[in-house]
Amino acid sequence: HGSLLGIAGLERHEILFLLDESERYVALNREAKKHSDALSGLTIINAFFENSTRTLLSFEIAGKRLGADVVNMHAAQSSVKKGETLIDTAVTLNAMRADAIVIRHGSSGAVQLIDEKVDCPVLNAGDGSHEHPTQALLDALTLRHAMGIASGEALDGVKIAICGDILHSRVARSNMMCLTALGARVRACAPPALMPANVEALGAEPFHDFDAALDGVDAVMMLRVQNERMEGQYLASTAEYRHLYGLTAKRLDACAPEAWIMHPGPMNRGVEIDSDVAEREKSLITKQVEMGVAIRMACLDVLTRKARGLEGWA
Ligand code: CP
Repeated sequence: HGSLLGIAGLERHEILFLLDESERYVALNREAKKHSDALSGLTIINAFFENSTRTLLSFEIAGKRLGADVVNMHAAQSSVKKGETLIDTAVTLNAMRADAIVIRHGSSGAVQLIDEKVDCPVLNAGDGSHEHPTQALLDALTLRHAMGIASGEALDGVKIAICGDILHSRVARSNMMCLTALGARVRACAPPALMPANVEALGAEPFHDFDAALDGVDAVMMLRVQNERMEGQYLASTAEYRHLYGLTAKRLDACAPEAWIMHPGPMNRGVEIDSDVAEREKSLITKQVEMGVAIRMACLDVLTRKARGLEGWA
Protein backbone atom coordinates (compact mmCIF):
# COMPACT_ATOMS: atom_id res chain seq x y z
CA HIS A 1 0.00 0.00 0.00
CA GLY A 2 2.84 2.40 -0.79
CA SER A 3 4.34 3.32 2.58
CA LEU A 4 7.38 5.47 3.40
CA LEU A 5 9.35 3.34 5.84
CA GLY A 6 12.82 4.69 5.09
CA ILE A 7 15.21 6.19 2.58
CA ALA A 8 16.68 2.70 2.08
CA GLY A 9 15.09 1.29 -1.02
CA LEU A 10 14.28 4.65 -2.57
CA GLU A 11 15.92 5.42 -5.90
CA ARG A 12 17.52 8.80 -6.59
CA HIS A 13 14.67 9.71 -8.97
CA GLU A 14 12.08 8.89 -6.29
CA ILE A 15 13.84 11.13 -3.76
CA LEU A 16 14.03 13.91 -6.35
CA PHE A 17 10.35 13.41 -7.15
CA LEU A 18 9.39 13.97 -3.49
CA LEU A 19 11.65 17.06 -3.28
CA ASP A 20 10.16 18.48 -6.46
CA GLU A 21 6.58 17.78 -5.32
CA SER A 22 7.39 19.69 -2.10
CA GLU A 23 8.21 22.90 -3.96
CA ARG A 24 4.54 23.72 -4.58
CA TYR A 25 3.88 23.35 -0.84
CA VAL A 26 6.83 25.61 0.03
CA ALA A 27 5.05 28.21 -2.13
CA LEU A 28 1.57 27.48 -0.70
CA ASN A 29 2.87 27.75 2.87
CA ARG A 30 4.17 31.26 2.13
CA GLU A 31 0.71 32.47 1.06
CA ALA A 32 -1.79 34.07 3.42
CA LYS A 33 -4.31 31.25 2.86
CA LYS A 34 -2.30 28.06 3.31
CA HIS A 35 -4.94 25.58 2.31
CA SER A 36 -5.76 22.94 -0.27
CA ASP A 37 -8.64 20.47 -0.38
CA ALA A 38 -6.53 17.71 -1.93
CA LEU A 39 -7.01 15.32 1.01
CA SER A 40 -10.53 16.42 1.94
CA GLY A 41 -12.49 13.50 3.46
CA LEU A 42 -9.37 11.49 4.34
CA THR A 43 -8.40 10.62 7.93
CA ILE A 44 -4.78 10.72 9.04
CA ILE A 45 -3.70 9.28 12.40
CA ASN A 46 -0.43 10.46 13.96
CA ALA A 47 0.54 7.73 16.45
CA PHE A 48 3.49 8.93 18.52
CA PHE A 49 5.05 6.50 21.01
CA GLU A 50 7.98 8.88 21.64
CA ASN A 51 8.13 12.60 22.33
CA SER A 52 8.25 15.06 19.46
CA THR A 53 7.79 18.75 18.80
CA ARG A 54 8.77 19.34 15.16
CA THR A 55 7.74 16.08 13.52
CA LEU A 56 4.36 15.71 15.24
CA LEU A 57 3.33 19.34 14.76
CA SER A 58 4.52 19.50 11.17
CA PHE A 59 2.68 16.29 10.22
CA GLU A 60 -0.45 17.66 11.91
CA ILE A 61 -0.15 21.01 10.15
CA ALA A 62 0.65 19.25 6.85
CA GLY A 63 -2.48 17.08 7.01
CA LYS A 64 -4.70 20.00 8.00
CA ARG A 65 -3.34 22.28 5.26
CA LEU A 66 -4.25 19.53 2.78
CA GLY A 67 -7.82 19.44 4.09
CA ALA A 68 -7.61 16.01 5.83
CA ASP A 69 -9.09 15.14 9.21
CA VAL A 70 -6.07 14.67 11.48
CA VAL A 71 -6.07 12.98 14.88
CA ASN A 72 -3.11 12.50 17.19
CA MET A 73 -2.56 9.50 19.44
CA HIS A 74 -0.04 10.15 22.21
CA ALA A 75 1.09 6.81 23.60
CA ALA A 76 1.44 8.26 27.09
CA GLN A 77 -2.32 8.95 27.18
CA SER A 78 -3.36 5.75 25.36
CA SER A 79 -4.09 2.14 26.24
CA VAL A 80 -0.43 1.35 25.50
CA LYS A 81 -0.02 2.39 29.16
CA LYS A 82 -2.44 -0.42 30.12
CA GLY A 83 -0.27 -2.99 28.40
CA GLU A 84 -1.81 -3.10 24.92
CA THR A 85 0.67 -4.52 22.43
CA LEU A 86 1.98 -2.66 19.40
CA ILE A 87 0.19 -5.06 17.04
CA ASP A 88 -3.15 -4.74 18.87
CA THR A 89 -2.74 -0.96 18.72
CA ALA A 90 -2.07 -1.18 14.97
CA VAL A 91 -5.10 -3.40 14.37
CA THR A 92 -7.23 -0.93 16.36
CA LEU A 93 -6.05 2.05 14.30
CA ASN A 94 -6.66 0.06 11.11
CA ALA A 95 -10.26 -0.74 12.17
CA MET A 96 -10.93 3.01 12.33
CA ARG A 97 -10.26 3.08 8.56
CA ALA A 98 -7.46 5.59 8.60
CA ASP A 99 -6.23 6.63 5.15
CA ALA A 100 -2.65 7.14 6.36
CA ILE A 101 -0.89 6.42 9.65
CA VAL A 102 2.20 8.35 10.75
CA ILE A 103 4.23 6.57 13.41
CA ARG A 104 7.08 7.45 15.73
CA HIS A 105 8.34 4.64 17.95
CA GLY A 106 11.39 4.03 20.13
CA SER A 107 12.12 0.60 18.65
CA SER A 108 13.91 0.14 15.33
CA GLY A 109 11.60 -1.84 13.05
CA ALA A 110 8.34 -1.03 14.90
CA VAL A 111 7.04 0.99 11.96
CA GLN A 112 7.65 -1.90 9.56
CA LEU A 113 5.76 -4.21 11.93
CA ILE A 114 2.75 -1.87 11.94
CA ASP A 115 2.93 -1.50 8.16
CA GLU A 116 2.45 -5.26 7.86
CA LYS A 117 -0.78 -5.11 9.91
CA VAL A 118 -2.66 -2.21 8.32
CA ASP A 119 -4.31 -1.53 4.97
CA CYS A 120 -3.26 2.10 4.46
CA PRO A 121 0.08 3.83 3.77
CA VAL A 122 2.35 4.15 6.82
CA LEU A 123 4.84 7.00 7.17
CA ASN A 124 7.87 6.54 9.41
CA ALA A 125 8.24 9.58 11.69
CA GLY A 126 11.32 8.04 13.35
CA ASP A 127 11.83 4.48 14.62
CA GLY A 128 14.54 3.87 17.21
CA SER A 129 18.02 4.23 15.73
CA HIS A 130 16.80 3.05 12.33
CA GLU A 131 15.35 5.74 10.02
CA HIS A 132 13.72 9.18 9.97
CA PRO A 133 13.08 9.54 6.23
CA THR A 134 11.09 12.80 6.21
CA GLN A 135 13.90 14.46 8.19
CA ALA A 136 16.44 13.47 5.52
CA LEU A 137 14.12 14.71 2.75
CA LEU A 138 13.58 18.06 4.47
CA ASP A 139 17.32 18.43 5.03
CA ALA A 140 18.01 17.82 1.33
CA LEU A 141 15.32 20.33 0.35
CA THR A 142 16.75 22.89 2.79
CA LEU A 143 20.24 22.49 1.31
CA ARG A 144 18.89 22.75 -2.22
CA HIS A 145 17.16 26.03 -1.41
CA ALA A 146 20.09 27.49 0.56
CA MET A 147 22.60 26.67 -2.16
CA GLY A 148 20.39 28.03 -4.95
CA ILE A 149 20.13 24.63 -6.65
CA ALA A 150 17.14 24.48 -8.99
CA SER A 151 14.12 22.23 -8.66
CA GLY A 152 14.78 18.95 -10.47
CA GLU A 153 18.50 19.11 -9.61
CA ALA A 154 20.28 16.97 -6.98
CA LEU A 155 23.21 17.75 -4.65
CA ASP A 156 26.03 16.38 -6.80
CA GLY A 157 29.45 17.24 -5.36
CA VAL A 158 28.13 19.06 -2.27
CA LYS A 159 30.43 18.35 0.70
CA ILE A 160 28.69 17.87 4.04
CA ALA A 161 29.89 16.78 7.48
CA ILE A 162 27.45 15.09 9.87
CA CYS A 163 28.82 15.20 13.40
CA GLY A 164 27.73 13.70 16.70
CA ASP A 165 26.14 10.52 17.94
CA ILE A 166 26.04 8.77 14.57
CA LEU A 167 25.61 5.35 16.20
CA HIS A 168 22.19 6.10 17.70
CA SER A 169 21.00 8.59 15.11
CA ARG A 170 18.16 7.68 12.76
CA VAL A 171 18.60 11.19 11.34
CA ALA A 172 22.22 10.42 10.43
CA ARG A 173 21.35 7.03 8.90
CA SER A 174 18.57 8.42 6.72
CA ASN A 175 20.66 11.44 5.79
CA MET A 176 23.74 9.43 4.81
CA MET A 177 21.61 7.36 2.43
CA CYS A 178 19.62 10.31 1.09
CA LEU A 179 22.53 12.70 0.60
CA THR A 180 24.74 10.11 -1.09
CA ALA A 181 21.86 9.04 -3.36
CA LEU A 182 21.66 12.70 -4.40
CA GLY A 183 25.38 12.76 -5.20
CA ALA A 184 26.66 14.60 -2.10
CA ARG A 185 29.97 13.67 -0.47
CA VAL A 186 29.22 12.87 3.16
CA ARG A 187 31.69 12.82 6.06
CA ALA A 188 30.50 11.17 9.27
CA CYS A 189 32.28 12.39 12.40
CA ALA A 190 31.83 10.83 15.84
CA PRO A 191 33.83 9.67 18.86
CA PRO A 192 34.98 6.08 18.24
CA ALA A 193 32.35 4.73 20.68
CA LEU A 194 29.54 6.47 18.76
CA MET A 195 30.57 5.52 15.21
CA PRO A 196 28.70 2.58 13.62
CA ALA A 197 30.88 -0.10 12.03
CA ASN A 198 28.94 0.07 8.75
CA VAL A 199 29.21 3.82 8.16
CA GLU A 200 31.11 3.34 4.90
CA ALA A 201 28.42 0.95 3.63
CA LEU A 202 25.99 3.83 4.17
CA GLY A 203 28.11 5.92 1.81
CA ALA A 204 29.95 8.14 4.32
CA GLU A 205 33.65 8.68 4.99
CA PRO A 206 34.37 8.22 8.72
CA PHE A 207 36.27 10.81 10.81
CA HIS A 208 37.07 10.99 14.52
CA ASP A 209 38.79 14.40 14.29
CA PHE A 210 36.11 17.07 13.95
CA ASP A 211 38.46 19.75 12.58
CA ALA A 212 39.55 17.41 9.78
CA ALA A 213 35.93 16.46 9.03
CA LEU A 214 34.90 20.13 8.84
CA ASP A 215 37.75 21.25 6.62
CA GLY A 216 36.29 22.90 3.53
CA VAL A 217 32.73 21.51 3.77
CA ASP A 218 29.75 23.30 2.24
CA ALA A 219 27.51 22.37 5.16
CA VAL A 220 27.74 20.89 8.64
CA MET A 221 24.92 19.01 10.32
CA MET A 222 25.20 18.65 14.08
CA LEU A 223 23.48 15.88 16.06
CA ARG A 224 22.39 15.65 19.65
CA VAL A 225 24.05 13.12 21.98
CA GLN A 226 21.09 10.85 22.64
CA ASN A 227 21.40 9.95 26.30
CA GLU A 228 18.07 8.10 26.15
CA ARG A 229 19.59 5.54 23.74
CA MET A 230 22.93 5.12 25.58
CA GLU A 231 23.85 1.96 27.36
CA GLY A 232 27.09 3.20 28.85
CA GLN A 233 28.89 3.51 25.51
CA TYR A 234 30.06 7.08 25.93
CA LEU A 235 30.99 8.56 29.24
CA ALA A 236 32.68 11.86 28.34
CA SER A 237 31.69 14.93 30.30
CA THR A 238 29.76 17.70 28.60
CA ALA A 239 32.86 19.92 28.71
CA GLU A 240 35.02 17.23 27.11
CA TYR A 241 32.41 16.50 24.45
CA ARG A 242 32.11 20.20 23.55
CA HIS A 243 35.91 20.52 23.39
CA LEU A 244 36.26 17.63 20.95
CA TYR A 245 32.98 17.66 19.00
CA GLY A 246 31.15 20.90 19.73
CA LEU A 247 30.51 23.36 16.89
CA THR A 248 32.05 26.52 18.34
CA ALA A 249 32.53 29.81 16.50
CA LYS A 250 36.31 29.39 16.76
CA ARG A 251 36.26 25.93 15.19
CA LEU A 252 33.83 26.90 12.45
CA ASP A 253 35.78 30.06 11.52
CA ALA A 254 39.04 28.08 11.37
CA CYS A 255 37.76 25.11 9.35
CA ALA A 256 34.72 26.08 7.26
CA PRO A 257 33.76 29.75 7.73
CA GLU A 258 31.33 29.70 4.77
CA ALA A 259 29.57 26.46 5.70
CA TRP A 260 25.80 26.26 6.10
CA ILE A 261 24.89 25.22 9.63
CA MET A 262 22.21 22.57 10.20
CA HIS A 263 20.69 20.76 13.19
CA PRO A 264 17.53 18.62 13.14
CA GLY A 265 16.62 19.73 16.67
CA PRO A 266 16.15 19.52 19.53
CA MET A 267 19.49 21.26 20.22
CA ASN A 268 21.58 20.99 23.34
CA ARG A 269 23.01 24.52 23.24
CA GLY A 270 26.52 24.67 24.65
CA VAL A 271 27.06 20.93 24.11
CA GLU A 272 27.12 19.94 20.41
CA ILE A 273 26.47 23.49 19.17
CA ASP A 274 27.07 26.92 20.67
CA SER A 275 24.23 29.44 20.72
CA ASP A 276 26.11 32.08 18.75
CA VAL A 277 26.72 29.54 15.95
CA ALA A 278 23.10 28.33 15.92
CA GLU A 279 21.98 31.92 15.43
CA ARG A 280 24.38 32.93 12.67
CA GLU A 281 23.12 34.11 9.29
CA LYS A 282 24.36 30.86 7.73
CA SER A 283 22.26 28.81 10.14
CA LEU A 284 19.47 26.86 8.40
CA ILE A 285 17.92 25.47 11.57
CA THR A 286 14.59 27.33 11.35
CA LYS A 287 14.56 26.89 7.56
CA GLN A 288 14.74 23.12 8.16
CA VAL A 289 11.54 23.38 10.21
CA GLU A 290 9.81 25.37 7.45
CA MET A 291 10.84 22.80 4.81
CA GLY A 292 9.60 20.00 7.10
CA VAL A 293 5.98 21.07 6.69
CA ALA A 294 6.27 21.17 2.88
CA ILE A 295 8.01 17.78 2.72
CA ARG A 296 5.34 16.17 4.92
CA MET A 297 2.58 17.68 2.80
CA ALA A 298 4.20 16.20 -0.31
CA CYS A 299 4.63 12.77 1.32
CA LEU A 300 0.99 12.67 2.52
CA ASP A 301 -0.20 13.82 -0.89
CA VAL A 302 1.90 11.34 -2.90
CA LEU A 303 1.26 8.35 -0.64
CA THR A 304 -2.54 8.81 -0.68
CA ARG A 305 -2.82 9.40 -4.44
CA LYS A 306 -3.57 5.77 -5.24
CA ALA A 307 -6.44 5.72 -2.70
CA ARG A 308 -7.78 8.88 -4.34
CA GLY A 309 -7.76 7.21 -7.77
CA LEU A 310 -4.75 9.22 -8.95
CA GLU A 311 -1.42 8.21 -10.40
CA GLY A 312 0.96 7.96 -7.42
CA TRP A 313 4.66 7.34 -7.16
CA ALA A 314 7.28 8.47 -9.70
N1 CP B 1 13.99 16.60 14.32
C1 CP B 1 13.01 15.96 15.02
O1 CP B 1 12.62 14.83 14.72
O2 CP B 1 12.51 16.68 16.07
P1 CP B 1 11.33 16.19 17.06
O3 CP B 1 11.90 15.07 17.88
O4 CP B 1 10.99 17.41 17.88
O5 CP B 1 10.19 15.72 16.21
